[in-house]
This record gives sequence, C-alpha cells and structure tokens, in this order.
Amino acid sequence: MIPDQSVLASAGPLAARTERLWWFSFWVAAGVYVLTMGFLVWSIARARRRARDGEPMAAGSDQRMTRAVSYGSGATVVILLLFLGFDLSVGRTLSPIPSKRPLTIEVAGHQWWWEATYADTSAHGRFTTANEVHIPVGEPVLFLLEARDVIHSIWVPNLAGKKDLVPGYTTSFWLQADTAGVYRGQCAEFCGTQHAKMAMFIVAEPRAKFDAWVANQREPAKTPTDESAQRGKEVFVTSSCAMCHSIEGTEAGSKVGPDLTHLASRSTIAAGTLPNTRSALSNWIRDAQASKPGVKMPPTALAPRDLAALLTYLEGLK
Ligand code: CUA
Repeated sequence: MIPDQSVLASAGPLAARTERLWWFSFWVAAGVYVLTMGFLVWSIARARRRARDGEPMAAGSDQRMTRAVSYGSGATVVILLLFLGFDLSVGRTLSPIPSKRPLTIEVAGHQWWWEATYADTSAHGRFTTANEVHIPVGEPVLFLLEARDVIHSIWVPNLAGKKDLVPGYTTSFWLQADTAGVYRGQCAEFCGTQHAKMAMFIVAEPRAKFDAWVANQREPAKTPTDESAQRGKEVFVTSSCAMCHSIEGTEAGSKVGPDLTHLASRSTIAAGTLPNTRSALSNWIRDAQASKPGVKMPPTALAPRDLAALLTYLEGLK
C-alpha cells in the first residue's frame, strides 16, 4: 500500500522534523491571523458605534495608535526571529548523516528516469537498477546525486526534503524510513516535457527482506530455458533494444537507457508512468511516444512473434 505522497505524513526522522517545523509555522501563522482579524473586527465595530453615538475621538488617540503599531512591529520581528531560529536548528539536524558507513546509493537523473547504482567496495557487489530503490527500514541511507543531462531534483516528501541533481557536480543527501512501505518520490525541478512523469519509488523493507532483494539484484539475468524466452533474448540482443539497454549476463551493455537485468522485479515501467504488465510493456516497446510523448525511446517495429517472444523473455527477468 502506498501512503499519500505528503510532507504531512512523515515516515522517517528527517521528514518528521520538517513536518514539526511546518506545523509550528502553521499554528503561529493561524494565531497571528485570528488575532489580527479579531482586532480588525473589534476596531470596525467600535468606530461604527462611535459614529452612531456621535462620540468624538478620544484625547491622546494618536499616541495610542503609535504605541499599538510599535507593539505590533515588535511582535512581528520576534515571531520572524523565532521562525528563523527554528528553521536553522532543523536545517542543522538534517545535514549530518548519523552513520560512519551508511548504505550508499548513487542516483543519476536522466530525462526522464532515475538510475540507481548500489555502491559497494567490491566491484562484483555493485549493481544498477532504475526508478525503484529498496532501502532497509530504520537505517540512514546516503544518496550521491548526479544529473546526466539537465538539472533534476529528487523529492520523496514522506521521507525527506528536496535535493537538486546538477550535471557535472555530485551532491548528496540522506534519508531514513522508520515505517516499512512504498513511498512515492518525484522530480521536483522542471526538466523538460516529461518532467511530471519522472517518478521514483522508495521501497522500505525489513533488513532481511532488503538483503534478499540485494542478493537477487546482484545476480546476472538467468539464462532462459524455454524456447520462446530464448528466442526473446535473441531478439533483444540483435535488435535496437541492446543499443540503449543493459542486461547483465548478456551481450547487451549499453547505459543509455535503464538497466533491465531485473526488470520484472519492478512494479512500474517508464519511471512510474505505466504498470509493469505484459500489455503495458508491449505498448511501450511498440510506441513509447504514445504514453510519454518526447521520451528518448524510439518506436520499435517487431514481427508479432518476435514481440511476443521478447515480452516472455522480459517477463522472466525477475
Ligand atoms: Cu527531472 Cu523534472
């Protein structure tokens, strides 16, 4: 179940602090609003009553007015300083990651999808996936961010604030999920026509489940055994698919598009645009432009038998 994508439904320590700041600002602003409106209504009522009774302005009202404005300005300065202080203190607690050797994920923004590489000290431990990032519950996770084309911004409101991804420059941020669940994130910086369809899912799960996921992702794709899937693999590596995508364990090794080694383990395709079903995948391969106009993936014309075989192969990439 996917909780509402909202800063007001925090599921981790960073988002919880930001949410507290939000509620603090909200209640202070609400209090100021109610007080101001109260004074306004009161003064209008008083002026009307005076006008009706033909009462003259009280002596010394000019000085009283000056005093009221001074008090009001003083209160405004105090409230703004309070906001500033709280804001800075929250900002300070957000920056340092409370772990010496955190799980590190390198995330690269592309038009319009997310590449995620799980960094590991050993070369064989590294693996790459796309648009769906698994993390263990209750552990801080470090993200190293880069952009491959234009500026993007990562935002998973239930877990943390935004962070920009800038071409040629590595930025970083961290987050932590304290409740298991699937959290929707999205690009928060306009990056071209399909900016709105650049979603990412953070799947927070218990450590054991996460470890099992990692172990599976590290494996190269299984060699298909049935005839149709074998044919599908051949279609993949000999057609235009292999010019942009990788599948570990095959000759396809291009990094232009998302890594498809474990495509079938993801719940969506096209960065959260479509469900990962056979029919959606089929439409996507034939004409990606129809569901995501402007996307870099060109239409792929395949004979119906080849397309069916390819789909069977891709569905087997668990
Ligand atoms: Cu990437 Cu907006």
